[in-house]
Amino acid sequence: MKGRRKWLVLPSLAAITIAGILVSAFAREGQVAVAQQAQGETATQKYNRESEGKAPRGPWAYSGASGYTNYIGGGVGRSPEQPVKFPHPVHVQGLKMNCGFCHYAADKSPDPGLPAVGTCMGCHTLVATDRPEIKKLTEYYNKKQPVPWVRVHKVPEYVHFPHMRHVNAGVTCQSCHGQVQNMPQVFQYASLNMGWCVSCHVNGYSRVDGMKAAGYESDTAAMRVAQEADTKLGRRKASYDCTACHY
Ligand code: HEC
Ligand code: HEC
Ligand code: HEC
Ligand code: HEC
Ligand code: HEC
Repeated sequence: MKGRRKWLVLPSLAAITIAGILVSAFAREGQVAVAQQAQGETATQKYNRESEGKAPRGPWAYSGASGYTNYIGGGVGRSPEQPVKFPHPVHVQGLKMNCGFCHYAADKSPDPGLPAVGTCMGCHTLVATDRPEIKKLTEYYNKKQPVPWVRVHKVPEYVHFPHMRHVNAGVTCQSCHGQVQNMPQVFQYASLNMGWCVSCHVNGYSRVDGMKAAGYESDTAAMRVAQEADTKLGRRKASYDCTACHY
């Protein structure tokens, strides 16, 4: 029974830590929001305005293959309307939240995961509760329903795509998804067709290109580390075996 009590203590400590992080983030953002209110603009509007057009539409297909999302509508540039207009810029740029805070399984599982409504409500029971989009979010929460997010990226069922293998090899999210931190509404950046996958696997992943895609400037410490690794280790190649990607 003593052992069991320990288990009760640990999660509650974790909950306090998380609450602390959320509250401090909120306090910082609260200041920005107040500064902006004077000009009649919310923090969300400010970050959306500053991001608009900064994330360039993706690299075009490397091969004739069309890409699965062409069949379900769109392909490169596909950007479905979401049931709640979730803005990445104010959360990632404004609050400095990591991608992994919400896409919590990107380094552990084939599927990066989407955040539960409870994760959002950690802040939105207090923040911006008067906004229409937050009212919609709160309705899902009160009805204990998940938000029915519309899938943007999809490969066909016969293709095996393990996120964790890429994330653990250091491939930046933005190499494949573009600068999501600058997208008021997420869009499909890369073709996701076989030629695109194979081109990176055969030619190899350049850490410098990956950092550039993520938006790092060339004279930063992180970029110098990437440069050194590229020079020392060469581009990181991956499997061209059909069965690596096809069951
Ligand atoms: C790095 C991953 C990867 C490797 C390796 C790979 N494929 Fe694919 N393959 C894909 C993806 C992704 C698609 C989906 C293409 C699309 O949506 O247009 C695909 C589609 C296909 C299709 C269906 C094409 C169509 O137009 O319907 C065939 C057939 C295929 N691959 C055969 C192969 C063969 C044979 C090999 C080995 C020489 C191979 N693949 C290696 C990723 C891969
Ligand atoms: C506060 C939580 C949160 C953070 C932080 C966050 N995201 Fe998201 N992300 C979401 C939600 C919610 C969705 C679904 C709604 C949408 O598509 O906008 C989403 C959707 C996405 C999608 C599209 C998924 C699909 O259906 O194909 C990608 C790609 C993505 N995020 C990448 C990122 C990257 C990269 C970062 C870091 C730069 C990041 N996200 C940070 C919550 C978050
Ligand atoms: C760390 C705290 C925090 C978390 C967690 C969080 N948000 Fe936010 N969110 C904010 C802040 C702060 C703003 C900016 C409010 C403003 O514009 O003044 C915001 C803005 C928004 C807006 C824009 C509101 C408007 O003005 O239209 C939406 C929609 C939103 N969040 C949805 C979500 C969703 C969905 C999640 C979960 C995936 C989430 N948020 C998680 C703090 C958070
Ligand atoms: C090598 C390319 C690549 C990298 C790197 C990558 N992704 Fe993806 N992502 C994809 C592909 C391809 C899909 C579609 C997968 C599928 O259909 O199974 C996808 C799908 C997603 C989805 C939608 C999953 C869902 O269940 O709705 C999210 C969210 C996402 N990625 C977030 C991220 C985040 C966050 C990172 C960085 C931590 C990241 N991705 C890194 C290629 C990539
Ligand atoms: C930007 C470069 C890049 C792109 C694009 C990319 N990959 Fe990869 N892939 C890698 C790297 C790097 C690894 C890790 C190799 C390692 O672990 O040493 C990898 C590993 C993998 C593995 C595990 C390989 C094994 O030997 O088990 C699979 C499966 C895979 N990728 C599938 C895909 C598919 C499917 C796509 C397209 C939808 C894709 N990749 C697109 C760079 C990329």
